[in-house]
Amino acid sequence: MAKFIVNGKPVVADVDSDTPLLWVIRDELDMTGTKFGCGIGTCGACTVHIGGRAARSCVTPVSAVEGAEITTIEGLSATGDHPLQISWQKRQVPQCGYCQSGQIMQAAALLKDFPSPTDEDINAVMSGNLCRCMTYVRIREAIHEAAATMKQEARDE
Ligand code: FES
Ligand code: FES
Repeated sequence: MAKFIVNGKPVVADVDSDTPLLWVIRDELDMTGTKFGCGIGTCGACTVHIGGRAARSCVTPVSAVEGAEITTIEGLSATGDHPLQISWQKRQVPQCGYCQSGQIMQAAALLKDFPSPTDEDINAVMSGNLCRCMTYVRIREAIHEAAATMKQEARDE
């Protein structure tokens, strides 16, 4: 049994304490945006935010997130219009799409630490998120564009 918050809603997961968070998100909560890729923490397809930081849900047991606030791709924006999601659509970043939820969640965490990221910042932080369709150039462009949008929005407030 584990209790935590997912996308602002309390969750009680009646599972073994070593169950990966990814399985609770996908199988118990029916949120299938978060993907299973490698299962060993090396591809990034399962990336979510735990306490606002990017984390690999495939290697995170529910016992490690007791009381934590978790955000999945479904909760990044209530209406799917986070600047990253807008830029992703505008630049047609995805190909097969399988890795893209993880890419966007990692990118959202990146922009918290680097509001004006350089190519090097992006390459360093995103290097653990693999894309077999090789969309890396468009991902980088979309992150730059979203960063500019977010700065403009902050100025307009
Ligand atoms: S499925 Fe979690 S890092 Fe690959
Ligand atoms: S878009 Fe296909 S794996 Fe990244």
